[in-house]
Amino acid sequence: MNLVVVSNRVSRGKPNEPMTGGLAAALLPVVEKTGAIWVGSSGRVRDGNSKEPFAEVEALGAGALAMLDLPAAHYGGYYEGFANSALWPALHSRADLIRATHEDYASYREVNAFMARALLRFRKADSAFWIQDYHFLALGAELRDLGISQPIGFFLHTPWPARAVISGVPHHRALIEAMLAYDLIGFQTEEDCENFLSYVKNDLDLAVRDGVVISSSGRTRAAVFPIGIDPERFAQQATKAMTHPDVTRLRRSLNGEKLAIGVDRLDYSKGLGNRIKAFDRMWTIQPGLKRSVSLLQIATPSRGAIEAYGHLQSEIAKLVSDVNGAHGEVDWTPIRYLNKGFGQGVLAGFYRTAQVGVVTPLKDGMNLVAKEYVAAQNPADPGVLVLSKFAGAANELDAALLVNPHDIDGMARTIASAIAMPLAERRTRWEAMMAKLNSGTIQQWFADFIEALQDTHSVGDTALPEPRTMWPRRTADFAARYH
Ligand code: UDP
Ligand code: G6P
Repeated sequence: MNLVVVSNRVSRGKPNEPMTGGLAAALLPVVEKTGAIWVGSSGRVRDGNSKEPFAEVEALGAGALAMLDLPAAHYGGYYEGFANSALWPALHSRADLIRATHEDYASYREVNAFMARALLRFRKADSAFWIQDYHFLALGAELRDLGISQPIGFFLHTPWPARAVISGVPHHRALIEAMLAYDLIGFQTEEDCENFLSYVKNDLDLAVRDGVVISSSGRTRAAVFPIGIDPERFAQQATKAMTHPDVTRLRRSLNGEKLAIGVDRLDYSKGLGNRIKAFDRMWTIQPGLKRSVSLLQIATPSRGAIEAYGHLQSEIAKLVSDVNGAHGEVDWTPIRYLNKGFGQGVLAGFYRTAQVGVVTPLKDGMNLVAKEYVAAQNPADPGVLVLSKFAGAANELDAALLVNPHDIDGMARTIASAIAMPLAERRTRWEAMMAKLNSGTIQQWFADFIEALQDTHSVGDTALPEPRTMWPRRTADFAARYH
């Protein structure tokens, strides 16, 4: 099988460069190992309809990376407009932030159609297409319109919200009908999958049997594939990183003080404001924790051209400054706040240095930082993960200290108890979380999805596939080709 993976954001696999988001971080090792071709945006735009749309095609491990210049006239409406100002807020249950014009939607569809035409170059008789994330909800339908009959799967890295929320997106019906061109749609959690199927049943009035939607486009299976990381690789990186100059400087600067760490894109879904307020509250109700614990918050700038993100940048900077002003001393800064990214090789060392990982999004598809923090810990003296119950990762990492990110007082108390947790409890919780990470790795995620895509497609329109639980874990054929 020739696998073509498609996403808006790609990674060139430069080891010292920060990853931009979990999608790129997750797919990079998959493409490098399996020999897939990964097609995405170059980040540049081009005028007119060029005959040769690719800016660059380069090797990426055993695979390849093809980066496409997207059409200049439609890029803004597609990326900043419909994808990130209508779909992203809706998918994260922030209907109040939905902003979209009908021109944005038209541009979104144009870019989906443009990508479909570009993908024809990679079609082979045994191709399968795997489309990633909310930028390309309609890409499967565009590919089918161009006569592609090969398997086409889709995976959503974000949550899928309740019916009432997704209905706030202009043209939601046309978009979700277009999604039914996919053979298989993967979600991060059961709740996301159920929300999607509930819309399909109630708003599109379609029959759903054992997770399979029956529509005029054929059959589409919806199923759950929680995305993972490579815990072994992360643990190795973390051990190695302890001698990296940046990590050494961080450790020296602590003078025996404990450290909590947060690592997020500057995004309103990440709950950064409430997190900083929780630290403020903690130092207020437990002044004994001043000087004995500080927060390192890495907040990498993201989608800066969008109004809601610009506001966030200044709001969080002001909060940090207020809290540092209130609790700081001439020789102690409570919150170190950095608006820049680090390569994962260094980040892993920061995670291992911190006694507490704070991951408190208001809503998150999975949150790979939570998993990476756990994998990076020293098994003999592991740190504690404080995790929002609204992150997809909370389904697996239920041995973390789970918090409600809207309850600032509750978070303050939980962070304080994480700092004080005895070694025996830290180890028990960490071992339970590592067992989950090891049974749901990124390699397993990939293998499970591709196998399910092949099964679903081969069943085609002739009969209903067996329920998901009856699928074999992995075919020998698949294992030979991809491992
Ligand atoms: N990341 C990075 N450098 C940074 C900050 C983050 O490489 O300075 C990576 C991090 O290791 C993780 C990804 O970016 O793999 C963030 O993924 P996550 O699922 O936590 O959040 P997203 O940004 O996708 O919403
Ligand atoms: C989330 C999305 C990804 C996206 C990433 C970074 O993880 O699910 O699709 O790539 O954020 O956002 P950006 O807009 O910079 O690609």
